[in-house]
Amino acid sequence: MPRAVFNTAPIFVASGRGAELVDVDGNVFIDLAGGLGVLNIGRAHPRVLEAVHAQVDAFLHECFHVSMYEGYVALAEALNELVPAPGPNKTMLANSGAEAVENAVKISRYATGRDGVVALTHAFHGRTAMAMTLTAKHMPYRAGFGPYAPEVYRAPYAYCYRCPLGLRYPGCGVACAGAVADRIDSEIGAERIACLVVEPVAGEGGFIVPPPEYLPALRQICTERGILYVDDEVQAGMGRTGRILAIEHYGVVPDIVTTAKSLGAGLPISAVTGPADVMDSVHVGGLGGTYGGNPVACAAALAVIAELTEGDLLERARRQGERIRARLDPLVDEVPAIGEVRGLGPMVGIELVTDPVTKEPAKALADAVIRRCFEERVLVLKAGTFDNVIRLLAPLVIEDGELERGLDVLVDALRWAGTQV
Ligand SMILES: Cc1ncc(COP(=O)(O)O)c(C=O)c1O
Repeated sequence: MPRAVFNTAPIFVASGRGAELVDVDGNVFIDLAGGLGVLNIGRAHPRVLEAVHAQVDAFLHECFHVSMYEGYVALAEALNELVPAPGPNKTMLANSGAEAVENAVKISRYATGRDGVVALTHAFHGRTAMAMTLTAKHMPYRAGFGPYAPEVYRAPYAYCYRCPLGLRYPGCGVACAGAVADRIDSEIGAERIACLVVEPVAGEGGFIVPPPEYLPALRQICTERGILYVDDEVQAGMGRTGRILAIEHYGVVPDIVTTAKSLGAGLPISAVTGPADVMDSVHVGGLGGTYGGNPVACAAALAVIAELTEGDLLERARRQGERIRARLDPLVDEVPAIGEVRGLGPMVGIELVTDPVTKEPAKALADAVIRRCFEERVLVLKAGTFDNVIRLLAPLVIEDGELERGLDVLVDALRWAGTQV
């Protein structure tokens, strides 16, 4: 394997259930990483396993372009209902988050007849050519992989802890949204822009939660200029923040929504959902792929959606978020290395700094915290443009006792970090 295919925890997995995984040496880990945001519903969920087993027994693959099957249609219908829209939606299925984003851009260009795409600072949208170009971070995602896709422009995300305009919320009046409008109007030309691609919470960028006014302001900018608002819910969606889609917290109705990761509970599947007229603007044969909407993955995704809409996952997510914040928020005053604890529901990030005044990112310290957690059999991940944010993506089904044990370890590691600066 090339060294570029990295790993964070030096373990090999033997089995898993819920928020627990067992490695081949018999070590049991509490998982606060969720297989990179994929396991909101947890490992081996009975409803998912039952649906998957039934589909495996029936057939594994046909390719929807060759012979159709019910699962694809049922999942499209379910997502059409889940995604807020003024009129009827349509959904196409693909395999990964990056592929969903690529297709959202293709559809937006086709529907508007415009080429330009605006992405935001701190964005992550995947590793394929267009998705990588939309992604903001140079190392490791873009470095050496140019030339990048043309007609992609960047505008500021609302990262209040490190305000790009040097202002303070709320006195700033969310001037960063105004800066997005200025960039569009004075530098690019609104009539050239097909879509604005936005994460409702910047995930890889560092779990950056924009203030309440920012996303509605972007919505208005798009509406006034005929630009499609693409809401990338690949990481923040499917219950991660306590709502099915994170954008619901902001009361914004996007045009196109991309979902993936926890949609498939571990099987590779992604979706692009948008207004019927936009989705149907593309010519027959213009969208698709060999594996898009694989029947086994569709079965898993339908089980996930059934659990999200009928079960108590969203309630559990909210409770998990409250428990996490109750443990971590008090540390901000106690541990000088913690610059900020932020999040939406249980999608929580802890930004580490070497000095709370200069806010110098503490990358090595973040690595050390993750290593200490790992040594105590707790898995957490890093994120952030500056590689200094610990992020929590625990399965929503994690039991209270497991969560508290995981947080005990994390809190100890963070307190230790405070002694290192
Ligand atoms: C917001 C967002 N969009 C897109 C992607 C890309 O998804 P995938 O890795 O499935 O291609 C990710 C992955 O982390 C993501 O967080």
